[in-house]
Amino acid sequence: MPAGAIAKPGQALKGIIKAPGDKSISHRAIILGALAEGETHVTGLLRGADIMSTIGAMRALGAKVAENDDGSFTVTGCGSAGLKSPKGQVDCGNAGTGVRLIMGAASAYPIKAEFTGDESLRSRPMARVLDPLREMGIEAASAKGDRLPATLTSSGTLKPLDFTPPHASAQVKSAILLAGLRTDGTTTVRETRLSRDHTENMLRAFGAEVSARPKDEGQVVSITGPVNLVGTRVNVPGDPSSAAFPIVAALIIPGSDICIENVMMNPTRTGLLETLAEMGGDIRADNFRKSGGEVIADLHVRHSNLRGVNVPSKRAPSMIDEYPILAIAAAFAKGDTIMEGIEELRVKESDRIMATVELLRRNGVDVSESADGMRVKGGGAPVGGGKVTTYHDHRIAMSALVLGLAAQRPVEIDDAAMIATSFPSFFSLMETLGANIELAG
Ligand code: S3P
Repeated sequence: MPAGAIAKPGQALKGIIKAPGDKSISHRAIILGALAEGETHVTGLLRGADIMSTIGAMRALGAKVAENDDGSFTVTGCGSAGLKSPKGQVDCGNAGTGVRLIMGAASAYPIKAEFTGDESLRSRPMARVLDPLREMGIEAASAKGDRLPATLTSSGTLKPLDFTPPHASAQVKSAILLAGLRTDGTTTVRETRLSRDHTENMLRAFGAEVSARPKDEGQVVSITGPVNLVGTRVNVPGDPSSAAFPIVAALIIPGSDICIENVMMNPTRTGLLETLAEMGGDIRADNFRKSGGEVIADLHVRHSNLRGVNVPSKRAPSMIDEYPILAIAAAFAKGDTIMEGIEELRVKESDRIMATVELLRRNGVDVSESADGMRVKGGGAPVGGGKVTTYHDHRIAMSALVLGLAAQRPVEIDDAAMIATSFPSFFSLMETLGANIELAG
């Protein structure tokens, strides 16, 4: 039986916490470190289960990853020797970003590798990366519907690709760029909407030349191979997608006043902050500084009377993981909040439109869904009292618990275990702020 948790309404949140390491940047630090020549020293790495899966996968492909006494990590990359075929299956757990980026990176080498993951990951579409990789020259045999397990066979001599992804996806962009690292020639990804740019930025930090030209609302990104990456130092900034949970909790619990330090402010990730500001959220950023090539800041958040807004669909890529927690904020706002152009939510760790709508309805919130969106009718603290099915999805689990902290009655979740994939310190940090969340069992 998975262990659940229950969040109870109670006192205002107060205090200062530090955001945990960014999941996207943590994956990339391990993967690029594993490809590079020499050592990469990583501080601030997220110690989430997803990142541990990526570490396990890169070890299976030949890299060395060691944890140091001070909590930092040293990756000894394969460099010119290249990645090697693993002995058994490469199990990427729950990590969609991990498996998609690693399949791209592994394709650049003469390799045969079978990739798999947990039940949630095995249900997610992989054609979005396998199809372009096939165009570059790999063979991929996968489960029905191009799902995992998938066995990739590559000669290690790929053709460069010029590709326009059908939807904004940093995972797809990154998989193709990584596969292009060892080709002779230029691999190009034409994004019609800008997705998070951490791969481009980090490739540069590892010595690669990456060209990125803005075009309309997107960009054209190119890399000319072969590229030899050189190990470097990476300091992982705090994750805005994790900070989102205490931020919304403070906005909706009366009397709250908190500070979250170390939050990455990369504009490809700040869509939620923009939306919450439009809703009337009292969020102030100060102490802007640079860390690991990214701008970070401390965020001061106070309880606010929110109003419903229409979230522009072009903002979706910059807040793609934040819609479930935005929907919680929307339930407390005055008026309707309309979210459109978010069909990608249906293929995340769960169908997040379905799961969010169900979680809100079980707690008395009036919400409707369409194929590519949701509309939440706000109006004061919802009744709560519901038991929420999390569908093995960490962000659904945390969103439901935040709702329970401010609803009229407690909110229970069926399974709290998945929270460790992205935010293992969620319970202790929320407790520091004064939240009343109990783990069952
Ligand atoms: C991520 C990209 C996003 C996001 C995921 C992390 C990344 O997915 O949902 O949690 O690190 O590249 P898509 O790029 O597929 O939208």
